[in-house]
Amino acid sequence: MTVTIVGSQLGDEGKGALVDRWGGDADVVVRYQGGDNAGHTVVEGGAEYKLSLVPSGAVRGTVGVLGNGCVVNPRTLFEEIDGLRERGLDPDVRVARRAHVILPYHRVLDGIEEDRKAEDDSGVEVGTTGRGIGPTYEDKAGRRGIRVGDLLDPAVLRERLEYAVPRKRTVAEAACGLDVAGSDHAAAFDVDALYEEFSGFGERLDKDGMTINCSDFLHRRRAAGDRILFEGAQGTSIDVDHGNYPFVTSSNPTAGGAAVGSGVGVTTVGAGEVVGIVKGYLSRVGAGPLPTELDGDDHEEALADEIREKGGEFGTVTGRPRRIGWLDLPMLRHASRVSGFTGIAVNHVDVLAELPDLRVCTDYELDGERIDTVPTTTERWERCDPVYREFETWPSVDWASVADEGYDALPAATRIYLEFVVDEVDAAVYAVGVGPDREATVELVNPFERTGR
Ligand code: GDP
Ligand code: IMO
Ligand code: MG
Repeated sequence: MTVTIVGSQLGDEGKGALVDRWGGDADVVVRYQGGDNAGHTVVEGGAEYKLSLVPSGAVRGTVGVLGNGCVVNPRTLFEEIDGLRERGLDPDVRVARRAHVILPYHRVLDGIEEDRKAEDDSGVEVGTTGRGIGPTYEDKAGRRGIRVGDLLDPAVLRERLEYAVPRKRTVAEAACGLDVAGSDHAAAFDVDALYEEFSGFGERLDKDGMTINCSDFLHRRRAAGDRILFEGAQGTSIDVDHGNYPFVTSSNPTAGGAAVGSGVGVTTVGAGEVVGIVKGYLSRVGAGPLPTELDGDDHEEALADEIREKGGEFGTVTGRPRRIGWLDLPMLRHASRVSGFTGIAVNHVDVLAELPDLRVCTDYELDGERIDTVPTTTERWERCDPVYREFETWPSVDWASVADEGYDALPAATRIYLEFVVDEVDAAVYAVGVGPDREATVELVNPFERTGR
């Protein structure tokens, strides 16, 4: 039995909160893509945890796995594990030996590529998190990556570094114009320094028994009857294949990524539950089009400010204010089709309470035609005009009691809004988020309790 949690919009939909909620019913929580670009928030009884690499089951004490599809920065991983230990948790994290390692030069290259794009004023700056995610996946595809398994064998690590580092240095110097030796980044391109630090990480990973053959590990856990929760990071519209390229991350947050990024068969993932996490409006941290963005006039900007303040819409990883837009159904239809959602969780309905108006984009108008899903090119998507349907807003109520009492206790206008969304997306509502805390969720279906899947 597996449950896969997928971001259905642009990331930050509240995936961490649902992984934490249902993580109590799982035995293993597996991240299958991305790295420390993710920022997943778990709130338990008022205590807030912001997790970037440690899977969100950690707050429940569930075993966490970073699958082969992830890119792992060991510096961040150990800092995060140590920080959680100081707060009294004991995260049990296993890392796939096939996962790729983010090295310091990947971060440097991520930064300078973005800086160059900004200076050129080319309009192609992505606004990445600067964590080296893209450059690490580039090296993976370019067959010059260093994998977690390589950290465990000093001779192999040195050989790999001696091949990769001079090539990366040439890129930094010749293509990006960085004077490596004269910059603050010399150590990031120094084979000896990298060898020293990263063989040390290898020793710690080995000593703590943290590395696994991910496919084999999960196969055995499943054979023993364990329940697996796949924790997607990012979201469908920033998926490298299905998102609005090039304003995307470099991995596959969509459900297919769970199979590829963990070594569990597609039939297993597909026989389980796939839950799309939906924010009741949109937020976006990086660059790229956003047809329903609330930035057209003073009224819209005031609405965006109100939502941003009420929803705490500032990036978990970078602290950047998130751009805000109305819920976009063409985007959700696309997400539901790409991942095959069996259910959805709609978060942040408390944030929408008492807004002066409330809209949902049902379709787009593009070149005089009405379309109901996202165009394949960013240039066409940018030209789409949203077609809106107005909804009645709802009052702010005692959301904690609503969470206790259940779905029927939600304001009538909230239920009308939710039922409209569900019909359009063709997937049942499993949960409604009415606040950040684990308990602030109206649960209709616990996907682990669904039978017949
Ligand atoms: P993730 O990346 O998808 O895990 O989401 P983030 O943690 O980056 O951002 C979601 C933010 O919204 C966090 O601060 C959560 O604590 C918070 N959150 C999650 N669900 C809800 C909800 O239903 N209502 C409110 N008000 N906040 C929520
Ligand atoms: P979670 O898991 C929201 C965005 C960045 C940028 C683009 C590429 O918390 O939902 P990258 O550093 O990945 O190369 O940046 O993707 N981005 C996210 N936006 N939530 C995230 O993760 C994100 N991870 C990356 O802002 O636009
Ligand atoms: Mg986040």
